[in-house]
Amino acid sequence: MRLFAVCLQFLGLANISTFSQSIDSYVATEGIIAKSGVLANIGSNGAKSQGALPGVVVASPSTTDPDYVFTWTRDSSLVFKMLVDQFATGIDPSLRGLIDEFVSAEATLQQTSNPSGSISTGGLGEPKYNVDLTAFTGPWGRPQRGEEDLILKKIVFFLLICPPKKDGPALRATALITYSNWLISNSNTTFVSSTLWPMIKLDLDYVSLNWNLTTFDLWEEIDSSSFFTSAVQHRALREGITLASTLGQSSSISSYATQADNILCFMQSFWHPAGSSSFMTGNTGGGRSGIDVNAALASIHTFDADAGCDAITFQPCSDKALLNLLTYVESFRDVFGLNSGLANNAALATGRYPEDVYMGGNPWYIATFAVAEQLYDALQVWSNEASLTVTSLSLPFFALFNSSVTPGIYASSSTTFTTLTTAIKSYADSYIALAAKYTPESGGLAEQYDRNNGTPLSAVDLTWSYASALTAFEARNGSNSQFASWGAKGLSVPATCVTEAGGDGQTVQVTFNVDAETVLGENIFLTGSADALSVWSTNDALLMSSANYPTWSITVGLPINTIVQYKYIRINDGSATWESDPNNQITIPASGILALTDTWR
Ligand SMILES: *[C@@H]1O[C@H](CO)[C@@H](O)[C@H](O)[C@H]1NC(C)=O
Ligand SMILES: *[C@@H]1O[C@H](CO)[C@@H](O)[C@H](O)[C@H]1NC(C)=O
Ligand SMILES: *[C@@H]1O[C@H](CO)[C@@H](O)[C@H](O)[C@H]1NC(C)=O
Ligand SMILES: *[C@@H]1O[C@H](CO)[C@@H](O)[C@H](O)[C@H]1NC(C)=O
Repeated sequence: MRLFAVCLQFLGLANISTFSQSIDSYVATEGIIAKSGVLANIGSNGAKSQGALPGVVVASPSTTDPDYVFTWTRDSSLVFKMLVDQFATGIDPSLRGLIDEFVSAEATLQQTSNPSGSISTGGLGEPKYNVDLTAFTGPWGRPQRGEEDLILKKIVFFLLICPPKKDGPALRATALITYSNWLISNSNTTFVSSTLWPMIKLDLDYVSLNWNLTTFDLWEEIDSSSFFTSAVQHRALREGITLASTLGQSSSISSYATQADNILCFMQSFWHPAGSSSFMTGNTGGGRSGIDVNAALASIHTFDADAGCDAITFQPCSDKALLNLLTYVESFRDVFGLNSGLANNAALATGRYPEDVYMGGNPWYIATFAVAEQLYDALQVWSNEASLTVTSLSLPFFALFNSSVTPGIYASSSTTFTTLTTAIKSYADSYIALAAKYTPESGGLAEQYDRNNGTPLSAVDLTWSYASALTAFEARNGSNSQFASWGAKGLSVPATCVTEAGGDGQTVQVTFNVDAETVLGENIFLTGSADALSVWSTNDALLMSSANYPTWSITVGLPINTIVQYKYIRINDGSATWESDPNNQITIPASGILALTDTWR
């Protein structure tokens, strides 16, 4: 949009009100385009939905280079969280039918066995599906050769392409909980109890059991721990606890509460102190700096205005989140040609992480909008609280806007408060102006824009790009202040973190006994969610002893203070039969020994 190219030249020079008026007009125009862009990519009526079934979000209509005609649980859930919020706050009362279609589509996907497993063996962690709601089996599309080759391919494929992405179930739970809360306050608890809660429970049980295993990050590149994943898991469990208690589902509450505390504890470990360049590590692996928009996205997607500027939940106005944002944007100053020669308080084009090479490694629209959104969220809280606190940690951030500011609490009546908030609003707007500058005349938002000349690149009409524009605009006009709290307020970090690995790798000896009649050649094996139980592997399941036939037994050391799920498997001549659902579950205590007596189901 040329208007904005002109406006940008005046940034810092032209008067602020002209600048903000042109932002207003971009927001008004692009808001409408972005909303229809989102709806166009949702089946079955969306104009660009590529034959997707009802309620299915297509990531982008781009069919080649890259082919994004798939539905990712992460993207779909973020998009529908935005739509449910619009519905629940009355911004768009027409969305209910579409939301109900999303619910049905996700109910089907939860039950769809896929390369990550079945519903009880890790299938919920599968990142993407075909838009006709079948499992994505990518490499299987190639001509198949011999049986052995197929098995080998299956293993390699599983390891390389289909490791679980544990943010999907958490984000889906959050979208469904938001809808549930609206239904309950509109006297439709029946639908929540009968349809939504069972889906939410599957996702939250998955989170509760798996959060402390490594995960592929939201970019599906690094298998390590990911701050975004932990933060959205934490949020989902907290709001799940509140919903469970409203619905009288008390049996779930204590394990969710225990694991939410454990995740909150773990989240603190991502902080990377480095003086004025400190940041929240996005991913712990991959041989990168760890600076990543992952953390800013975590902050805006777990924003809770009631929690003020709380740092332990990384609220947008917390000192840690502000310093992280500064470190993050600065990391692109020398990376993208677009940023060369820009002033220290001018908006910088930002991407996923400075080391990115995907499609040439460019700025992303979602990343640029995220910077603005975090700052608008922060401004909202400072305005609510009628004061703003500068700490020694956040000082480098605030110094961009007043170089002589010192740590302290500034009431809204002070000059410093006015100077800072006015400048920060303008700084946030300049990120919208930057996105505007690189938005083509049509208003279409692709995935990326070129690092040197700003031309839109990679997948066109990316649903998530549109959704990120809309949530940034909602934060700018304050309509997101009506979104309900998820319970971030008043939390404290437990004194010690309890983990899958137990205190110090301590374990309790658990003897599994199961009564099972077998035929000649048939054996009973054990597998389950813990490493010591081979993480749901059929091939590496543990052979049990038949010394006391028909009771089969085995003793395994399992990590203390954890919840473990398991099943018995019958294997006869290489062919495996699993026990029927649901999984068996035990809580491993802090000490002692445990003996279980089960009967084959
Ligand atoms: C409750 O909500 C569901 C989902 O929109 C709807 O199908 C159902 O008719 C509603 N029930 C009542 C009593 O309004
Ligand atoms: C599990 O939790 C512990 C302690 O919080 C942490 O040190 C470890 O890195 C976590 N592992 C994963 C994969 O999340
Ligand atoms: C900058 O901050 C200092 C310290 O709080 C304050 O005295 C001064 O008035 C501020 N400058 C402006 C322009 O607000
Ligand atoms: C705020 O922005 C959103 C997103 O563009 C829009 O849908 C909504 O109508 C706006 N609300 C107001 C009160 O301007």
